[in-house]
Amino acid sequence: MWNYEIRTYDGRPPSDVVVSPYVEYLLGPADPHLVWFLAVHTPAATATGGLRLSRRGGPTGRDVIGESATVQQLSVDPAHQRAGVGTALMRAAEGWLRDRPNLPRTISLGVETTNAAAIALYSRLGYVVTSRDGVPITFVSGDNHLCQVMVKRL
Ligand SMILES: CC(C)(COP(=O)(O)OP(=O)(O)OC[C@H]1O[C@@H](n2cnc3c(N)ncnc32)[C@H](O)[C@@H]1OP(=O)(O)O)[C@@H](O)C(=O)NCCC(=O)NCCS
Repeated sequence: MWNYEIRTYDGRPPSDVVVSPYVEYLLGPADPHLVWFLAVHTPAATATGGLRLSRRGGPTGRDVIGESATVQQLSVDPAHQRAGVGTALMRAAEGWLRDRPNLPRTISLGVETTNAAAIALYSRLGYVVTSRDGVPITFVSGDNHLCQVMVKRL
C-alpha cells in the first residue's frame, strides 16, 4: 500500500512535519529560489524522503542546457527505499514546474558518476546525460566526487 503523501513548501523549509534524521540535512535555510518536496509517511507523519528544486540552473553546462531548474539532494531514508518514493518526489517536482509556464521547461541535476541507483532512477524517468562536443559534462562536488549532468526537457 502507498502510505506516502508528497508535500511541497515554496520558499521556506517546512516547520510542520517531523523529519527523519536521514533527510534533515536537505532542509537548508529559506531561499526564494528553492522549493522543497517531502515524502511524508502518513501513519507516523514523518518525512522519510525529499528533494529541493531550485528555480536556477546548476553549477555547469548552461551554455549547452540553456535555462533550467535544478533538482538538488534527492534523498530517501534507507528503510523506505525501493517503494517508489524517489520516483514520486521527482514526478512531483516535474509537475510543479510544468504548472508554471514562466519557469524553465528543463530540469537539470548533477549525480555522482558512481551512483548507479540514482542514475537508474533518473534514466527511467527520461533524464539523459548531457554532453558538450560528445564529452559528458562533469563537475567535482563540494565533497570531491565526480558528478555528471543529466537533463530532462518537460
Ligand atoms: C537514489 C534514491 C533516491 C532512490 O530512491 P528510491 O525511493 O529507492 O527510488 P524508487 O523506489 O523510486 O526507485 C525507482 C527505480 O530506480 C532504480 N533504483 C532505485 N534504487 C536502486 C538501487 N539501489 N539499485 C538499482 N536500481 C535502483 C530502479 O530502477 C527502481 O525501480 P524498481 O524498484 O522498480 O527496480 C535512494 O537510493 C537514495 O536516497 N540514495 C541515497 C542518496 C542519493 O544517492 N541521492 C541521489 C543524489 S543525485
